[in-house]
Amino acid sequence: MPTPPLIQPGAQPDVQVWDPFVRIFHWSLVACVLTNYFVVDDGKDLHQWIGYAASALVVLRIVWGFIGTRHARFADFFPTPSRLRSHLVALREGRIEHHAGHNPLGALMMLVLMATVLGLGVTGFLQTTNTFWGEEWLQELHELIASALMALAGLHAAAALLMSRIERTNLVAAMFTGVKRRF
Ligand code: HEM
Ligand code: HEM
Repeated sequence: MPTPPLIQPGAQPDVQVWDPFVRIFHWSLVACVLTNYFVVDDGKDLHQWIGYAASALVVLRIVWGFIGTRHARFADFFPTPSRLRSHLVALREGRIEHHAGHNPLGALMMLVLMATVLGLGVTGFLQTTNTFWGEEWLQELHELIASALMALAGLHAAAALLMSRIERTNLVAAMFTGVKRRF
């Protein structure tokens, strides 16, 4: 897969990157995950519906990764070993890259976060089946995956803030407006 061109510094101050689907997907997913972790963590009906909604959002995002707009597509940002390698080399050498879409490390984190949400959907669902109902190891696994998701999401949010400073681009605002703006 060829590496997509980087934004040249100063050449394009504002770049439209995230379409409405990506933005609504992101903040709805965040709302579902945080609500299920901090507010309704009792495993009852509401928790299950919110958990399934989060899983459905991820499934839709995967479909959108094939048919969506340019920077939403996996082909635009899939973290292949060569993309990851050149990104890590650039970071180590202190070279600042301005990726129009996700940078390779961010893309890797995105995939891990989505897989983790699906893992919660599956382990949550299994707990509701006759075969696995009341299985303590499954409850513990579900809880472990939920804690891992929180830790990863914290790292992800911190990385977004750090990269915003390094790239002098407000990446968090871009997830609301769709536009990456340099400051
Ligand atoms: C965003 C996705 C989800 C998150 C963040 C999440 C998180 C959690 C957390 C933190 C707990 C409490 C664990 C404890 O302290 O014992 C829990 C319990 C539970 N969750 Fe989820 N969950 C999610 C999705 C689901 C789904 C989709 C289902 C089922 C359809 C589900 C079913 C349950 C059940 C049955 C329990 C109770 C387990 C017990 O009795 O200890 N969860 N979940
Ligand atoms: C449970 C918490 C979270 C989850 C599961 C999550 C998940 C994701 C996913 C899946 C993406 C990829 C978006 C896409 O292409 O569709 C993403 C991107 C992003 N997230 Fe989150 N996120 C969480 C919390 C946050 C928070 C709290 C912030 C704010 C600091 C944040 C800021 C961002 C930004 C700025 C991007 C785009 C990064 C870039 O420019 O490449 N996320 N997140």
